[in-house]
Amino acid sequence: MTKIIALKDIKESLGIGECRIINFFENSLSCYWVLQTENGALFVKLPYLSDPTLGLNIQEKRWVDYVSKTFPAFRWRKKADSIKDLIAKEARTLQLWNESNIDSPKLFHANSKLISTLFVEGTDYRALLEKGMNKRDIDRLCETYLKTKGLALQKRNPYYLHSDPKLKNFLKCEDKCLAIDPANLVNTSISVEELAEGLSLYFLYGAYTLNSERANIEKLVSRMIASFDREDRLRLSELNLQLCLERAKFPDITSYRYTFNNYSAENIELTQKLFRR
Ligand SMILES: Nc1ncnc2c1ncn2[C@@H]1O[C@H](COP(=O)(O)OP(=O)(O)OP(=O)(O)O)[C@@H](O)[C@H]1O
Ligand SMILES: [Mg+2]
Repeated sequence: MTKIIALKDIKESLGIGECRIINFFENSLSCYWVLQTENGALFVKLPYLSDPTLGLNIQEKRWVDYVSKTFPAFRWRKKADSIKDLIAKEARTLQLWNESNIDSPKLFHANSKLISTLFVEGTDYRALLEKGMNKRDIDRLCETYLKTKGLALQKRNPYYLHSDPKLKNFLKCEDKCLAIDPANLVNTSISVEELAEGLSLYFLYGAYTLNSERANIEKLVSRMIASFDREDRLRLSELNLQLCLERAKFPDITSYRYTFNNYSAENIELTQKLFRR
């Protein structure tokens, strides 16, 4: 469903003058514009509030709910009740990143309906890594990710964390890796350490969803894990064991339409081996 919003309204919200639409695309989550303005190009996103469990039967919904509460890779998450909350969260984190020199697009404007950043010419890491793994690119990815995590822990502020660190939410731009789209809400009733650990597992398991040869994926996960320090790896391996126990309760998890395919027993086992290396 396309959001009916006139360019005139977007321009008014953003406080910009003449502009040209360079690109428009949409999916079930948002619609997006790239606008060429007198002062450069802007990326504009209008998110929808979507229910990822829409269309699932009751058993599957219970499942998703159980997994979200118990899997250490998901406990950090908090459900958003409004688009306004999602946008405010993304803007808050981008602002912190911009101020702290964490590579990220510059926030231009946010209101209750849309968020806009300066457009960056880049390739997202999912597309990049599916074409083949480049060690330098992976190093940049881990550096940016670990910077967000490090600052969150140092400042004891969960809003520095990348709250959706999947590979699509990192952009390669020249020789940098920019973090984008920190819109997910985080469950601030758990500690910043616990949030960071859960997000790190989520970050690693995202690599298993790549459309690439198994050997490439294993190499990538191995490099990502090697970028964490020893203490982190030990703690994450404990969490991964918990994940293994929870996962074992539901042998047919991968057959559900709501996919958790990347949390297969094989992937959990390999991750564990790499943590303990
Ligand atoms: N500032 C930007 N400049 C250029 N491209 C961008 C910018 N921000 C986002 N993009 C591109 O648009 C895509 C979608 O943006 P974003 O991740 O913010 O939205 P999303 O609705 O959460 O999408 P998804 O669910 O696919 O992660 C990104 O994967 C990236 O390729
Ligand atoms: Mg995204």
